[in-house]
Amino acid sequence: MPSQLYDFVVVANRLPVDKVGTTDDGEPLYETSPGGLVTALAPVMRSQHGAWVGWAGAPDEAGDAFDSDGMHLVPVELSAQEIEDYYEGMANGTLWPLFHDVIAAPEYHRHWWDAYAKVNRRFAEAAAAQAAEGATVWVQDYQLLLVPMMLREQRPDLRIGFFNHIPFPGYEIFSQLPWRKRVVEGVLGADLVGFQRRSDATNFLRACRRAAGATTRGSHVHVGHGEGRRTVHAAPFPISIDARGFEALASDPAVIERAAQVRTELGDPDAILLGVDRLDYTKGIRHRLSTFKELLEDGALGDKRVVLVQVASPSRERVKAYADLRDEVELIVGRLNGDHGTVGWQPVHYLHQSFPRDEMAALYLAADAMLVTALRDGMNLVAKEYVAARHDDDGVLVLSEFAGAADELHQAVLVNPHDIDGTKGAIVEALGMPKAERRRRMRALRRRVREHDVERWARDFLGALQDGAHAHDEEPAGQA
Ligand code: G6P
Repeated sequence: MPSQLYDFVVVANRLPVDKVGTTDDGEPLYETSPGGLVTALAPVMRSQHGAWVGWAGAPDEAGDAFDSDGMHLVPVELSAQEIEDYYEGMANGTLWPLFHDVIAAPEYHRHWWDAYAKVNRRFAEAAAAQAAEGATVWVQDYQLLLVPMMLREQRPDLRIGFFNHIPFPGYEIFSQLPWRKRVVEGVLGADLVGFQRRSDATNFLRACRRAAGATTRGSHVHVGHGEGRRTVHAAPFPISIDARGFEALASDPAVIERAAQVRTELGDPDAILLGVDRLDYTKGIRHRLSTFKELLEDGALGDKRVVLVQVASPSRERVKAYADLRDEVELIVGRLNGDHGTVGWQPVHYLHQSFPRDEMAALYLAADAMLVTALRDGMNLVAKEYVAARHDDDGVLVLSEFAGAADELHQAVLVNPHDIDGTKGAIVEALGMPKAERRRRMRALRRRVREHDVERWARDFLGALQDGAHAHDEEPAGQA
């Protein structure tokens, strides 16, 4: 048992740290790597005595729990085999493609499922061991769908929240999953289940009825019988970013200067298009490149010299669909630059790298139009970062209607990325948009992101979890 217990416990697949080396005794040395989630949760962790349970990102390496930036971090160990079966397999070879509307084909393997259940139990046990009597535990994302129920079985005293960061598919797709009933029952261990979009919550409520035989009323699910009867609330809580922090970063004179330098280094083009994604098949990078290729070939850009900067950060490289995607994208980029480049000029600048936040902010400031053309995306925080960075009220966001952000960012130019002609038209519209119109739209977008930042997201979710879960509204979702 740990010597101290915690009133607030976050359980996520990853710890918010990077391994930066090893100590003299061979113990791993970590450094916190603040992403959106930790930025939002760090103040809550500090004020409420919080612990964060997660995997440190490398095989067979856990080490002892440690304190960092006022947070207590508890590493969960995964073997190389478990990384293969639970993380690369069930999480990213089955659930990720299934939940993103089968853009890639999900694989169903019983040994992946067994590893997933075993690892989820390990996370649940680690969280149970940290939580004080009556503590709040917030479980994150599709890697840990079984943790809420496993936790409740061990610790009925806890208040349990679950947030699904990715889409929840329609039942016609979800029902492919051989373990659909257990997944739904796993999530229903929570008191409050949060989703990015209303449609995700509605899809989940339907899965509760169809896969688990539960009854629902509005956004509430009734589970159990007699003494064990409980109500679970499922509702949208769209996640966001540290908008003020991002705006401050993009306002730094060094970042503004770097943005100007980027434009010069790109050969001072007439327009810069920007894509920033993890290299993932859900992001629509191939479609985006095809669209850009056609724009170059059919003369729709007139005599404008336009470049596309595509940042594709390495991701899940040992999963075959990701390795295949990299090959395809790099082939397309090579052909495009080969066909349309000249000495000293190339239309696509492809960067298979991750960049620090200040370089990203400079790219956002330099881009005349940001292309967020995902085929399916839970939210897409890049869209919100672009908006937050544009303190100059300039730039145009071209946004896929299949990204959760489209529910909030109405002043973006919305596109169906499968519709190449429509997306071409949207890019031409973005690049030709008068300054006053760009300004009107960007101001409205910025207001939305500033007022709905990640801190508010965490506050809303945790507030609803404490209140016994009365979130945004009570629209009936229909009965079975
Ligand atoms: C998505 C998921 C996160 C995940 C992230 C990076 O945003 O919702 O849970 O952490 O991708 O993926 P990775 O597999 O590297 O953790």
